[in-house]
Amino acid sequence: MTSKQFDVVVIGAGPGGYIAAIRAAQLGFSVACVDEWKNGKGGPAPGGTCTNVGCIPSKALLQSSENFDQAGHHFADHGINIQGLEMDVGKMLARKDQVVKQNNDGILFLFKKNKVTFFHGRASFAAKAEAGYEIKVAGAAEESLTGKHVIVATGSNARALPGAPFDEENILSNDGALRIGGVPKKLGLIGSGVIGLEMGSVWRRLGAEVTVLEALPTFLGAVDEQIAKEAHKAFTKQGLKIELGVKVGAVKTAPSTGSGRSGGVSVAWTNAKGEAQVLEVDKLIVSIGRVPNTIGLNADAVGLKLDERGAILVDDQCKTNLPNVWAVGDVVRGPMLAHKAEEEGVAVAERIAGQHGHVNFNTIPWVIYTSPEIAWVGQTEQQLKAAGVKYKAGTFPFMANGRARALGDTTGMVKFLADAASDEILGVHIVGPMASELISEAVVAMEFRASSEDIARICHAHPSLSEATKEAALAVDKRTLNF
Ligand code: FAD
Ligand code: NAI
Repeated sequence: MTSKQFDVVVIGAGPGGYIAAIRAAQLGFSVACVDEWKNGKGGPAPGGTCTNVGCIPSKALLQSSENFDQAGHHFADHGINIQGLEMDVGKMLARKDQVVKQNNDGILFLFKKNKVTFFHGRASFAAKAEAGYEIKVAGAAEESLTGKHVIVATGSNARALPGAPFDEENILSNDGALRIGGVPKKLGLIGSGVIGLEMGSVWRRLGAEVTVLEALPTFLGAVDEQIAKEAHKAFTKQGLKIELGVKVGAVKTAPSTGSGRSGGVSVAWTNAKGEAQVLEVDKLIVSIGRVPNTIGLNADAVGLKLDERGAILVDDQCKTNLPNVWAVGDVVRGPMLAHKAEEEGVAVAERIAGQHGHVNFNTIPWVIYTSPEIAWVGQTEQQLKAAGVKYKAGTFPFMANGRARALGDTTGMVKFLADAASDEILGVHIVGPMASELISEAVVAMEFRASSEDIARICHAHPSLSEATKEAALAVDKRTLNF
């Protein structure tokens, strides 16, 4: 079999891989991108975890469930009375699948537009070749590709609890959690991280009784404490039962009741006081983090080095231990976020072209798409304290923001942390409406090393939620105007 030659072969078409492929093609390289993900009909479904079982479908379900919650609990405040409100879960899932498909098709279109050659199948390293690296593709047909450069973007997989493998019927990863066919009466979640809170919110809004078991004694330990406290209060009020400081023991699935019906799950656990408990639920979602994925890549064939967690070892430029082999996204160190993967993909393509690719790890935003949303960039107050940095803090509650009151969504606040001497913004933390959109202003400000005074002096539209950002910046110098 003759090997097809490319300047760049990208393995994986998630946000890291497909964006790297497009950018490399824009820079004039001949590019192949290989991905093995299959849609329901066995066809290609590029977009990775993010598009197929992550960011996109979870946000589709969050939107549907939020609409249902609004109609059920908040429309009446506006004088809109609805009789006989019902949720058609099947339709909600079909809509979600359609949104995913639009994204899959969009990526295939973008590959065509940018002249990226797509191969559907599993890629593995075969050997170091004279002209680069030989990559085997096992799909409907076998292919051999040679890439002068290779970018590995093989993503991550959900981590299972020891002794409780995912069956996607009773014990669910993110994959099964996104296609539960009806509202479970009782839903259990292990881990109150990002997936636990987002998925817990979806099914709680639709009527499930949700219990979250979290090992750590603090809620959302990586989030600014004041923000996490406010979020915890809001989630508890909504009915999410969050147990902190627990130890999860044996997980057992009950025998099926026949006719394909799920028999439920029981979880033995110990609470923070050391008391033994049992949680009986219809479905259990396990969201205790993700592990880098190099399954089937045959990294050994070329001596590609992994770390002790199985992540591909890279430097700050995403260079591996092999010349011209790069790795980006969830399969390397750093936060497992789609936009981080994308930034690394662009930077690597530009570095291959001899340019200075840029990724600023200090200004990568985080968003948790619950209601209220939680978003942040930069350092938390507890991190600044631990590092002995002298800082000033300013907060502004959405309760004092006119647009938030008109929306009927006044939970939460914006918080600024700025250097005590220079006033440079060190962190911005938001819990409240549209935090996912509001955080962008803070990211831009921090990227340009702005001071809180800079934001305080910029004209913000009235009435808008962004005025809370300006007011929190003003609060750093204790001169809020509306609070
Ligand atoms: P992936 O998206 O995992 O893509 C890897 C691709 O490589 C896959 O398509 C896989 O099929 C392919 N592949 C692997 N091995 C091979 C091989 N040997 N040959 C061929 N193909 C291969 N992040 C956010 O920023 N915002 C969010 O809102 C968000 N929500 C999420 C919700 C959930 C439920 C989950 C699970 C994750 C979420 N994430 C979110 C995280 C985000 O999905 C990941 O950070 C992102 O997908 C990582 O991109 P990637 O390109 O590194 O890997
Ligand atoms: P996570 O790391 O966010 O949270 C895992 C939680 O599980 C932690 O709080 C941890 O203390 C807890 N935990 C670990 N082991 C446990 C055990 N044995 N018993 C009880 N609790 C335990 O991981 P999660 O939620 O699985 O998400 C994985 C990643 O996917 C996220 O870190 C994030 O990078 C990405 N993601 C991003 C989203 C976004 O940007 N909005 C949405 C969803 C996922």
